[in-house]
Amino acid sequence: MAAALVALVLDGLQPTLAWRPSPADFASAALAARNDFRLRKFEMSGQFPEDTHFDELDWNTGFAEVWLYALRAARLALPKASGSLRQAARGLRTARSERRLHRSFAAAGEAFDHIVGELQRLANETPVVEHRDCSPAMSAVNRSIHLSNGLEMPMLGLGTTMLNGENGKGAILAALREGYRLIDTAQAYGNEAEVGEAVLESGLPRSEIFIATKLSEDRDCKRGRARDRVQAQLQLLKTSYIDQYMLHGPCPGMLGAWKDLEELYDAGVLRSLGVSNFDLDELSRFVKKVRIAPHLVQNKFSIYHRGWAPVDPARDIARAFREQGRVVMGYCNLDAYPHLLQPLEDTFVRRIATHCRRTVAQVLLRHALQHGTVVIPKSERPERLRENADIFDFALSPEDMRILDALPMLAHHGREPGYVDDVFGLRNRDELAAPADL
Ligand SMILES: NC(=O)c1ccc[n+]([C@@H]2O[C@H](COP(=O)([O-])OP(=O)(O)OC[C@H]3O[C@@H](n4cnc5c(N)ncnc54)[C@H](OP(=O)(O)O)[C@@H]3O)[C@@H](O)[C@H]2O)c1
Repeated sequence: MAAALVALVLDGLQPTLAWRPSPADFASAALAARNDFRLRKFEMSGQFPEDTHFDELDWNTGFAEVWLYALRAARLALPKASGSLRQAARGLRTARSERRLHRSFAAAGEAFDHIVGELQRLANETPVVEHRDCSPAMSAVNRSIHLSNGLEMPMLGLGTTMLNGENGKGAILAALREGYRLIDTAQAYGNEAEVGEAVLESGLPRSEIFIATKLSEDRDCKRGRARDRVQAQLQLLKTSYIDQYMLHGPCPGMLGAWKDLEELYDAGVLRSLGVSNFDLDELSRFVKKVRIAPHLVQNKFSIYHRGWAPVDPARDIARAFREQGRVVMGYCNLDAYPHLLQPLEDTFVRRIATHCRRTVAQVLLRHALQHGTVVIPKSERPERLRENADIFDFALSPEDMRILDALPMLAHHGREPGYVDDVFGLRNRDELAAPADL
């Protein structure tokens, strides 16, 4: 009955969607989010989990996102139970203090407890697995892209966070042997020497490898100091030039530092310039004050957060940067950082991966590529390096892209992501509607 109802609702809302998630998919997605182990730990102990990897995370926002995803997916699985779930979501979105937010977590738990049995029953229904056409012809993606100054860069690279020491160097070398030709590092990662050694040991000509690095420390973010920092990085990297040089984030003396970088660019030492962790407004103000505008922006890019770590729901920020003529390099396509919802665990991505007979990681990376985003997955495991590079011989269909592109509607915690094509039909039946409407 519930399945028939949801099919009816979705029929009206998405007439052009060929494949649609089933109530079983929504139920699985709701249960997976609700069972997030960190959320469970928090409920048991009342303490935020200790997790150094998430040191920059605002746990409250992270948990609110997980709960909202669970509640919205449950609403779509069980439309009849919608009212109480929407009310719980409304509580989460309108809580103005930590105390009220934590009370809303408890209320969400109670609302969920009432339907958990029904969700489990639905989730156990055997999904229909259709094998579909995922041939690359559906959406061609080039292996390289040109920056606005004409410099060519690969669309796939290796992220190198935590690739340090002999193991780290080994992974970078393995990636180069696997065919990776872009390496993304940073002053902050402490592994520029490892990158330099791996490049030398690979025996590949320097001209075949695209090295991207960043100025990370505030103390180097000033006129004169930035130049010195680049010289030190060149030594570590054992190279006479850097292909892409970024400010790791907005920093106090960045206009002075940028003047140094512009001079090094004029001299051919830096082949292109970029910024990371800038939002649209920060970048608009920045470009008005500099002589050479950034050719590239490196920001968070995942199925839930397209272009900016603290969500900017009003705009598709990655698309806006591209429309300005900048190349977008996405980080943490696979990893939740700095949030909690885990792309690699997402029910809808798993379904699409099964359809296409590809892995979940490959679907996530391909999704970013089809958005024109350069990807830099990090792994230290040879089999994953190979898997993550194997993303140019299949494509996601327009329907699959629409489903993945709609996920910010399930995940968002602040304003609605206005740019999202709302294929799930959540808009206008939102948690923030007047209470009488609930
Ligand atoms: N500008 C910035 O502020 C910023 C911030 C974050 C990251 N970055 C850059 O972006 C790169 C990528 O981000 P990231 O390293 O944080 O995250 P990521 O590449 O999205 O994910 C890396 C994590 O996923 C695992 N993984 C990799 N391939 C996998 C696969 N095929 N299946 C399952 N798990 C897989 C890795 O574990 P194993 O290693 O064990 O395989 C690791 O735990 C960084 O390395 C860094 O270069 C930049």
